[in-house]
Amino acid sequence: MRTLKLGTTGPTTSALGLGCMGMSALYGEADRTESIATIHAALEAGVTLLDTGDFYAMGHNELLIGEALRTAPAAHREQALTSVKFGALRDPDGGWSGYDGRPAAVKNFAAYSLQRLGVDHIDVYRIARLDPDVPVEETVGAIAELVEKGHVRHIGLSEVSAESLRRAAAVAPISDLQIEYSLISRGIEAEILPTAAELGIGVTAYGVLSRGLISGHFERDRQLAANDFRGMSPRFQGDNLQRNLDLVDALRKIAESKGVSVAQTAIAWVLAQGPRSGASIVPLVGARRRDRLTEALGALDVTLDDADLAAIERAVPTDAVAGARYPESQMAHLDSEH
Ligand SMILES: NC(=O)c1ccc[n+]([C@@H]2O[C@H](COP(=O)([O-])OP(=O)(O)OC[C@H]3O[C@@H](n4cnc5c(N)ncnc54)[C@H](OP(=O)(O)O)[C@@H]3O)[C@@H](O)[C@H]2O)c1
Repeated sequence: MRTLKLGTTGPTTSALGLGCMGMSALYGEADRTESIATIHAALEAGVTLLDTGDFYAMGHNELLIGEALRTAPAAHREQALTSVKFGALRDPDGGWSGYDGRPAAVKNFAAYSLQRLGVDHIDVYRIARLDPDVPVEETVGAIAELVEKGHVRHIGLSEVSAESLRRAAAVAPISDLQIEYSLISRGIEAEILPTAAELGIGVTAYGVLSRGLISGHFERDRQLAANDFRGMSPRFQGDNLQRNLDLVDALRKIAESKGVSVAQTAIAWVLAQGPRSGASIVPLVGARRRDRLTEALGALDVTLDDADLAAIERAVPTDAVAGARYPESQMAHLDSEH
């Protein structure tokens, strides 16, 4: 497994990370046994970075990862890095009711996460969305205190603007920014990515397959569960879906000419943006089955030269996507979009 250092101060991690969210929430039913087998297979393949959030099904995802770590061979468990998001407030009906980044809340969230994960430290800890009522300096300062006490190793951020990156980096070393980045979500290229590169902050890119939309496996007539995020996502609706899947068809032609899959091409494109941008970029793939994981790992063997990258970007031009990446109400919480 290829490895790289996440930013100038972050941990050394596998070149691909595993995002575990879909094993508990947001993409409909998941199979618990297969989820744990997928985490084990990822660790076995040398994937070290496991990403989660304490609010993914209200602790379910952390408990799942905790079980997978407990039942993994010791050597794999010891290499695993946990990347945990906190701060989203939930209610018993599964609703979302804002964000809490107050220092006392940060420490409270961390105490529960350590317990659920069954670990003595969290490797990268970050607030999922900035709390509009708490300056980023205070939230990051609270994580820095957790670092001093050994409960957390590194501080991350999620979906923040270039300005917030600078403010946070002035308080404490920031290992990485977690943010959506894919062939059809390229908004970070204008300002956020160059700022991360300048500040020596890595990027853990999520949604590299745009939640399955550009995986090559998403069927036009797929029936989604009522609680599936994609049922509300503008990119998956009506004409937008049709237009976006047309882009996937264009991408498929290039993938086929290289003898690789659509998902592998999309992941390899994100991998190629690290050297291009000067930032260390680690795609978090949301595989929740071993076959999908195997496919995703295959992206590490795909070489895209300048001509390939140009062909891909002609097939999927920067602004060709139809629909915003989140519903309007959720876009409002993205500091990165302001
Ligand atoms: N910081 C944030 O705000 C934020 C937001 C969202 C997610 N995240 C993190 O980023 C991780 C990845 O995000 P994501 O799950 O949206 O990313 P993704 O990799 O773009 O999408 C995952 C979806 O793609 C489908 N897929 C098809 N082929 C695949 C393949 N070969 N490998 C992987 N997935 C394939 C899967 O569908 P099937 O299972 O149906 O095959 C799965 O539902 C999450 O797990 C979470 O940890 C962070």
